[in-house]
Amino acid sequence: MSQGIAILGSTGSIGRNALRVISGLGAGYHVVGLTAHSSVELLAEQTRRYRPQFVAVTDCDYAERFRELLDGWETEILVGPESLTALVESDAVDTVLTAVVGAAGLPSALAAARSGKRLAIANKEPLAIAGELLTRIARDHGSTLLPVDSEHSAVFQAMQSGRASEVRKILLTGSGGPFRGATRRDLEDVTVEEALDHPTWQMGPKITIDSATLMNKALEVIEARWLFDVSVDKIEVLIHPESIVHSLVEFVDGSVIAQLGEPDMCLPIQYALTYPRRVAGISKPLRLEEIGRLHFERPEPETFRALTLAYDVARMGGTSPVVFNAANETAVENFLAGQISFVQIMELVEHCLDKHDVRPTACLDDVLEADAWAREEVKGRLGQEV
Ligand SMILES: NC(=O)c1ccc[n+]([C@@H]2O[C@H](COP(=O)([O-])OP(=O)(O)OC[C@H]3O[C@@H](n4cnc5c(N)ncnc54)[C@H](OP(=O)(O)O)[C@@H]3O)[C@@H](O)[C@H]2O)c1
Repeated sequence: MSQGIAILGSTGSIGRNALRVISGLGAGYHVVGLTAHSSVELLAEQTRRYRPQFVAVTDCDYAERFRELLDGWETEILVGPESLTALVESDAVDTVLTAVVGAAGLPSALAAARSGKRLAIANKEPLAIAGELLTRIARDHGSTLLPVDSEHSAVFQAMQSGRASEVRKILLTGSGGPFRGATRRDLEDVTVEEALDHPTWQMGPKITIDSATLMNKALEVIEARWLFDVSVDKIEVLIHPESIVHSLVEFVDGSVIAQLGEPDMCLPIQYALTYPRRVAGISKPLRLEEIGRLHFERPEPETFRALTLAYDVARMGGTSPVVFNAANETAVENFLAGQISFVQIMELVEHCLDKHDVRPTACLDDVLEADAWAREEVKGRLGQEV
């Protein structure tokens, strides 16, 4: 039977790659739902090409334009932030690929888990901020969580070499971003263009800035803690500038199992869709002899504070990671808009964490409240309207 796939965030970097992967897979996989926030021209093109049953536009201001673009086309159009939740709950959807950016993806990820769907997770923020809630709901409703982040896909694959109780540590690799080797002083003058110039990966703007501050790796540490149900003390980060070894797992006998591949998101996207099967796909084969050498080094905690903070917030739990993430999202938006400097991003995150009274997160409302508090705190500190 053909697998019906909904791609939340189909106009983004992961979403576009996912559509290429699905085209390459051919029979056995079909697109049921596509969504965009505001890129309605691209969403209309994708709708004509992939003929989904549902399309959703989450920013209501773009709905009218989208309806005009699709005039006469027979597809159900959903509008507004809640449309993602309605879409994933449809019986026609077997697999949900969450590829929206930021905490905005949390309600639909929870809805997909609650409806027992297979959930391929690229959107790491929901797991980082509400990992306990999301993994519990998935477990209770028989939803399979499949990582799409290349590092977590690598760990997931390596984990198949032993039992969870036999894992000594998880080694998450990261390229180090465009400022690898920089000092804190060097970071004071970096421009938006320099921060967006990632050495190995082509990604959306928010994750690219997060890769430059190492916030991306910080969120991934917390994501791994929940996906693999391990203490953060068993997770280490290793800087690997070539982005070929996507992550490693060390077992108690000393064996270290790694997954390697070209830095191309199509492979982890495909594996999440075809798991437990492996099929020929569109990814370029790895030729290690052409790469020659691989390098590994420790990250620099003094320059890149995000990583140190990640371990603290993961240990603290509750609303702490929610504030960590929401403050960062708001600060990154401001950096991309030219309102603040690169180093101010982490200063604002630390400010919010210092000011926040950590509470437990028993339900979605607890998460949303802490998220809103942190966004307002950043805006207030910058003298912006809240
Ligand atoms: N890119 C990668 O290689 C990569 C690798 C690993 C993990 N990830 C994770 O995957 C997620 C997506 O990353 P990306 O690089 O693909 O981002 P992106 O290129 O910025 O795309 C984001 C997608 O989400 C939509 N969107 C934006 N704001 C939204 C909102 N408030 N509500 C609903 N949808 C919204 C966008 O629609 P519009 O186009 O209309 O704005 C777009 O479809 C992130 O969580 C990222 O950390 C990405």
